[in-house]
Amino acid sequence: MRPSNKHDTYPSSAAVILVAGGSGERMGGNIPKQFQPLAGKPMLQQTLESVHRWGKASQIMVVTHAEWKQKTIEIAKETGINILWAEGGDTRQASVKAGLEALVPLNPTHVLVHDAARPLASPALFDRVLGALGENLSVIPAIAVADSLKQGKGGLVTGAVAREGLYRAQTPQGFAFSAIYDAHTRLAGQNLSDDAALMEKIGVDTALVEGDARNIKITVPEDRMQAEQWLSPQWEYRPLEYRTGHGVDVHPLVEDATRPLMLGGAEIPSPLALAGHSDADVLLHALTDALLGALGEGDIGMHFPPSDAKWKNAASAQFVEHALHLLKARGGKLTHIDITLMGEAPRLSPHRQPILESLSRITGLPQTRIGLKATTTEKLGFLGRGEGAMAMATVTIALPAQVDA
Ligand code: CTP
Ligand code: MG
Repeated sequence: MRPSNKHDTYPSSAAVILVAGGSGERMGGNIPKQFQPLAGKPMLQQTLESVHRWGKASQIMVVTHAEWKQKTIEIAKETGINILWAEGGDTRQASVKAGLEALVPLNPTHVLVHDAARPLASPALFDRVLGALGENLSVIPAIAVADSLKQGKGGLVTGAVAREGLYRAQTPQGFAFSAIYDAHTRLAGQNLSDDAALMEKIGVDTALVEGDARNIKITVPEDRMQAEQWLSPQWEYRPLEYRTGHGVDVHPLVEDATRPLMLGGAEIPSPLALAGHSDADVLLHALTDALLGALGEGDIGMHFPPSDAKWKNAASAQFVEHALHLLKARGGKLTHIDITLMGEAPRLSPHRQPILESLSRITGLPQTRIGLKATTTEKLGFLGRGEGAMAMATVTIALPAQVDA
């Protein structure tokens, strides 16, 4: 490693190219790995946020395939980070070239090329690379090989390779813009696996700076498991806890053809309706109370007082959404709901599917994580006489474990 101590000559910023145009064959899955979730966010978002935390990118150019452009823009919006976009190519080298070309009009002096598949690069690592660009046209972070290296053939060791002087190259790799652009233009169409390899081919020296053992390239599912641990300090130190909440609600059943009958957010064709201040969706009210219960956040009446005229005929989906928002704000996740409708009427079975679909839409849960059942009370009590309908809901949520006072 070369010391780089000329602080006064360090560039203070650089353009960053995030290459995210691969298909993630080795990771597998239905979508490319950089869009798969990693510790609760798409991997690309984690990487984008890591660049943003560093804070010295003059521009961030994200390179993806055209079909992922929209999703990429959505991810950037979600984080509030401004990005530029360029369409990737068939190889990593072609994707980097596309990013460089798109940056030409902006005339950056330096550029860092970084794999979207490395969400764990620290600000200190970005700084080491940028810092060494003060004295070098080309800089890579690398880690000395620690394992013994062997050559093998047909299942047998045929020789040993001395590991002295061997390094594993990482990204971000930093370059003087004109030098790397020149290399990519001259060597277009090859398939070199990193950018320092292009610099070597055009005869430019590359300086080594210390890499970071945590800055792994997420390539296979095991890498993702490791990265999730490192990315989620709150999970590392505070494991997930699971909580259960339950809620109960009752509304009178009336004959009122002018009032819609709402169950689970779905409108049910019926001459009957549930009476109440809001839309009286008994399933969603029980569900809201179950969510609030699991969070220890009181009950629905405390959040949406019936005395407040603004909730008159309100669509109850917003009550559930409010409770889910509180859950999300605590870093938690809804994992399962189970709801029972009780009474002689309305009947659940003819309307099960639209109700399930609606519950899935409102909660974001797949239908396989939603229990939806009904029971009569054998003609007993107010439910048996058809005077009202009742619902009970149970939810399971996962939260980062809390140290309660
Ligand atoms: N990459 C790219 N364009 C390509 C190929 C790769 O921008 N045509 C990007 C990947 O998205 C990734 C980085 O280069 O961020 C490193 O590549 P790699 O880890 O090999 O990712 P994939 O090529 O997607 O994975 P695989 O080789 O397993 O298919
Ligand atoms: Mg690849």
